[in-house]
This record gives sequence, structure tokens and C-alpha cells, in this order.
Amino acid sequence: MASKIIQELKETVGYIRSVHAGDTPRVGIVLGSGLGNLSREIRVEKEIPYEDIPHFPVSTVEGHQGRLIFGTLSGKPVVVLSGRFHYYEGYTPEQVVFPIRVMKFLGVEVLLLSNAAGGMNKAFKVGDLMIIRDHISLFVVNPLLGKNDTELGPRFPDMSEPYDRSLIAKAKMIAAKLQIPVHEGVYAGVTGPTFETRAEYKLLHIAGGDAVGMSTVQEVIAARHAGLSVFAMSVITDLGIREEDNIITHEEVLQAAGEAEPKLTGIFSQLIAAL
Ligand code: HPA
Repeated sequence: MASKIIQELKETVGYIRSVHAGDTPRVGIVLGSGLGNLSREIRVEKEIPYEDIPHFPVSTVEGHQGRLIFGTLSGKPVVVLSGRFHYYEGYTPEQVVFPIRVMKFLGVEVLLLSNAAGGMNKAFKVGDLMIIRDHISLFVVNPLLGKNDTELGPRFPDMSEPYDRSLIAKAKMIAAKLQIPVHEGVYAGVTGPTFETRAEYKLLHIAGGDAVGMSTVQEVIAARHAGLSVFAMSVITDLGIREEDNIITHEEVLQAAGEAEPKLTGIFSQLIAAL
């Protein structure tokens, strides 16, 4: 008999297919805090509120909209998770990654994610973009803890290249063509919901992090477990390592994300066109 998670995924996908019978999307997109506007570029075929979807958690954070959107972007069928689930909201790691697994079961092969992140690399400024080359997930709970169902993926997934090198190379070419400067670096995942202390930002930087954020790494682990190709980009919304006053607010994060969003949207749209 299939495990509970597989049964739930099949029920969820069955429901989604019963209300939306469009093209199977190859590309899945997860939009971060203050970065939901990419969905405006989508020629929408169907929007499903999370509360209608069996087994789906419901999003609670300001700046998140809570809809699964099917449509086309740059002429390609896509499915967008507009509003993601964070561990700090009280969801289990398994709930956080449930939508990623739903995307896999819907037929998605490539996953693009965005997030708002705090900059630690001294070269970063607020509003900059960073392509995630690698991540540190040791400070969050691994979503694969517990019994493994091999229908989802292997027991011990390789993580030597979580972010697809060819997608990174394509995105860099696109950014250069659009004359959008981009950094490339390591994203350190933390649970939040507190922003980091000065000492914590320093520690994460010394540990190899260029940016820090409260999302993405659990989703990427589940995506790689499921064999999806992953591309992710951070918008630097605040600077953790600076000498002057360093009070960081959610409002500041949302504002900086909103201002940088058109750049991110341009790169994502053209990357999808190039897939
Ligand atoms: N730290 C953690 N998460 C974040 C930050 C930060 O500075 N900025 C946006 N998300």
C-alpha cells in the first residue's frame, strides 16, 4: 500500500487535475516575500486558492497571496506557487515542501525559486540580485528526516550540485544581455522568525554564506530529492553586516523586494523562454 504522503499527493493532484485540465507544466515557480508580481506577467488559465486544495497548507504571512496559478509565461506552461510556506509559521518541514512534491507529481521538471535575503557579502547593496550557487541548510530542519518513500526519491540524495549549473550559466547570460548586474553566491538558510543578531550574521558569513534567509533550502532539498532541476535567486533586502544602526524590519524587506522585483521578473521570464 502506498504511504500516507503518496496517497495525499495523489489526492491533491487528482483534485487539481479535476479543476484544471490544461497543458502539463514543465516549469514550477515559487515566489518569495514581496516578489509575487511575476504572476502579473502570466497569462493565467486557472487560479486555485490554497484553501480549496486538499492537504495544502494555507499561507499566513503578509505579502503572500496564497494561490496556485496555472498559465503561460513567455509562451511556456507554468505552475506558480504564489505564497510559500515557511517553517517559522509553524508548519512542519513536510508541509513546507508538500507543494514542491505536488509540482513534481504534476509533471514539473524545472523549479525556479525567488526569495528575499539579508546580504552578508561586503560587496552587496540593498536591491542587488544574487543567483544562488550553493546553500547551507545545516541550521534548518531537513525535510527528508524520517522514513523515506522511494517513490519520492532516494534515501541519501546527492547535494553536490543543488543548483543547476547550466541554468545558472543561462541566467547570467540573460542578466548580462538585460544589463542587470547579478552576484552569485551561497545562501545560508535559517529558521527565523527573528532576524539575525550582528554576531549571527558574522558567523554565517564566516561559515561561507553570502546571503541569509528563512526559506528556500527545505524546498530545494525536496526538489533535488525528487530529481527536479533547480534555479534560485535572492533579492538582497537588507544588510546584516554593517557598522551603523542595524534595525531590520519586515516592512523594509518587503519594500526593497518590491523595488528590485522588475529585474528579477525580467530574468525569470527570459530564463523560462530559454528553457
Ligand atoms: N535574515 C534572514 N532572513 C531574511 C533577511 C535577513 O536579514 N532578510 C530577508 N529575509
